[in-house]
Amino acid sequence: MSLLEVRELTVAYGAIRAVRGVTFSVGRGQIVSLIGSNGAGKTTTLRSISGLVTPASGEVIFDGEPLHRLPAHEILSRGVAHSPEGRRVFARMTVEENLRLGAHTRRDEHAVLADLDKVYTLFPVLGERRDTKAGLFSGGEQQMLAIGRALMSRPKLLMLDEPSMGLAPIMTNKIFDTIRELRAEGTTVLLVEQNALAALALSDYAYVIDLGRTTLAGTGADLLGDPRVQAAYLGEGVAH
Ligand SMILES: Nc1ncnc2c1ncn2[C@@H]1O[C@H](COP(=O)(O)OP(=O)(O)OP(=O)(O)O)[C@@H](O)[C@H]1O
Ligand SMILES: [Mg+2]
Repeated sequence: MSLLEVRELTVAYGAIRAVRGVTFSVGRGQIVSLIGSNGAGKTTTLRSISGLVTPASGEVIFDGEPLHRLPAHEILSRGVAHSPEGRRVFARMTVEENLRLGAHTRRDEHAVLADLDKVYTLFPVLGERRDTKAGLFSGGEQQMLAIGRALMSRPKLLMLDEPSMGLAPIMTNKIFDTIRELRAEGTTVLLVEQNALAALALSDYAYVIDLGRTTLAGTGADLLGDPRVQAAYLGEGVAH
């Protein structure tokens, strides 16, 4: 059975129907991407999985259990971590304080220390500057910190919302390499990206969300080769 199953999810913000029927699944150990245009409902989908917004209807089944009626802290402690769009690290807190926030539901201090070391191995720049205030970091470094903070809960599922947003290509490559490394270590990743080319190249499976609905699905390679995806999301350069 898949680690995550989302079925016929709908979410509204007042009169705005942001998600109108999103269905997808994420297999254990996979990288699965959601791609789609601005305003398609990708962020709202992740926010409803992690309990930050309540779906109007539909189901979110994680590890065989329904999540869609649980509070956000309970969803986190069951193993779903969310690195939000726009990074949202705490600028006035140090790197280490930000990372520890990701572990705030845990009581196993020894294991938390071991996981801090793991994050510092994954992102050495964070280890070298662990006492530096996060606000002094570059966008790419803050993105590493946001991913590191999400990893500090030891998630079974890591959800990343636009990790490459605003980053230079070299930093984007580093972030995508890290996502591959995390998969190799057994972490399941649900990735939301506007950089469809990079996301599909990395993904085991992917879904297109258009106007609040999942409209296409396939392996990363299938969607990269699909003329509809090429026309709408990959630009002309890839279409030939
Ligand atoms: N807090 C909110 N209140 C009202 N409407 C919202 C809110 N957040 C998002 N929306 C609306 O819901 C729809 C889906 O937005 P969402 O942020 O989920 O899209 P997205 O696919 O993540 O877009 P982007 O690629 O720009 O990040 C949009 O029409 C958006 O304007
Ligand atoms: Mg978004």
